[in-house]
Amino acid sequence: MERITKRFAGVTANWAVDFDLRAGEVHALLGENGAGKSTLMNVLYGLYQPDGGRILLSGREQAFSSPRDARAAGIGMVHQHFMLIPSQTVWENMILGHEDLPSILPKKDVRRRILDLSDRYGLAVDPDAKVWQLSVGEQQRVAILQMLFRSARVLILDEPTAVLTPQEARQLFDTIGQMTAEGYGVVFISHKLDEVMAFSQRVTVLRKGRLVATVATEATTKERLAEMMVGEKVVLEIDRPAMAPGRTILECRDLRVLGDRGFPAIRDLSLSVREHEVLGIAGVAGNGQQELCEALVGLRTADRGRVIVDGEDLTNASPRTFIRKKVHYIPADRKGTGLVANMDVKENSILKRYSARPVSKGGFIDWKEVASFARTVVSRFGVNAPSTETPVRNLSGGNLQKLMLGRELSDSPKAVLAMHPTWGLDVAATKFVREQLLAQRERGAAVLLVSEDLDELLSMSDRLAVLCKGELMGVLDAPDRTPVETIGLMMAGTPLAEIEGAEVSA
Ligand SMILES: Nc1ncnc2c1ncn2[C@@H]1O[C@H](COP(=O)(O)OP(=O)(O)O)[C@@H](O)[C@H]1O
Ligand SMILES: [Mg+2]
Repeated sequence: MERITKRFAGVTANWAVDFDLRAGEVHALLGENGAGKSTLMNVLYGLYQPDGGRILLSGREQAFSSPRDARAAGIGMVHQHFMLIPSQTVWENMILGHEDLPSILPKKDVRRRILDLSDRYGLAVDPDAKVWQLSVGEQQRVAILQMLFRSARVLILDEPTAVLTPQEARQLFDTIGQMTAEGYGVVFISHKLDEVMAFSQRVTVLRKGRLVATVATEATTKERLAEMMVGEKVVLEIDRPAMAPGRTILECRDLRVLGDRGFPAIRDLSLSVREHEVLGIAGVAGNGQQELCEALVGLRTADRGRVIVDGEDLTNASPRTFIRKKVHYIPADRKGTGLVANMDVKENSILKRYSARPVSKGGFIDWKEVASFARTVVSRFGVNAPSTETPVRNLSGGNLQKLMLGRELSDSPKAVLAMHPTWGLDVAATKFVREQLLAQRERGAAVLLVSEDLDELLSMSDRLAVLCKGELMGVLDAPDRTPVETIGLMMAGTPLAEIEGAEVSA
């Protein structure tokens, strides 16, 4: 790819970027969220047409007007969200919706080919299973098989490990190793430095749409790559002073919560979080984390069991009661659940205090008071907004998150529940958010942190609970001294009690 430029309304996602891929290599594409990685590869896959630059394949210039063209040229891509048809079987997914295959392929040929490929590359799947029945890791294998099935020679994987347990990730890297040994070229998009260091031969770093450098992996270090990603020296470690936990603040006992489809999303779960403590919740996304948080703040009913706040039974109390008891929630979905996109900064800052003094006086809102509170939040939490009258839909992810933190943390919370609080943020904003949560811990709040980022959980958590399919697999008292394999096994469904040698030494 030579000097690829791609613009969207108001954003230049790629600025004259050069990128090349060799047969038999894993080439990592590294950058922070929004750096332009997916865009560059979507251009290669024919999803976007570039505004400038050209694509050459074995020296020949290409013009891809759709993914169909790219696939015909041997380029396959597995997106972060797989484009599979859930109600169909694995083998049907191999051929459905892909006009580029011969229209009639006998089922037994398709099945045999799937089994051959899955055997050869260690991509175990059952061709007759329906896609909706498969775990996320299995669905990813189907998506990869789909590309191999159409004889791709170049495989682009967009953040493939984000949805995998550590074991599944290792398995994926085995598959990739097998493929490169046979001459495939693999582009591996990631923002995880450890993976990039361990599994690529070359790395290209993008920052704000521009190419920073392409380097041989063995000739660089994690620290240098981090610096290239963000453009400055960064401290990757976070300081979490030892602290003695106090009394229990937030607790659930034998909690059962139903998901949106009416099936139990949380089963018989008992957990507690104490003062001066961060309890991390690990698990692959979609294993009940969201339903748990919602039940713990009154947004979802408990089907069974109890929710106790500071000794008081608040099971199925209203969200307003939880707010009054100073239980605060930072949801994953910032613009939907967390903030009202069309309201401005000052209105969003008082969403949880508009009905009480000093904001509300005799049934009316004191807008002067609102403006002054909003200004305090903006300055204390470093929200970068043109004014407090700016609609929050115009703020970037980092500023949305700072505003929400400001709203939730200004009120001396007793408990703070934070779901994926650093997702999509740049390094500086991530650090800020983590420091704010730790400052609450220091103040005496009980902090419950849900994250998919194991490094984040290990650096932040005093104890770590692991969920799988809504059940508690165990609580680790010394997460940072527990082998990561143990955590991976738990994420995949093995209870801690059944894992040999899981106990850590002091
Ligand atoms: N379809 C689109 N329309 C408008 N803007 C987009 C689109 N896709 C990406 N962008 C913008 O382009 C930039 C790069 O995005 P992306 O390539 O997704 O980054 P990355 O994959 O590195 O996180 C971001 O600012 C993003 O908001
Ligand atoms: Mg992306």
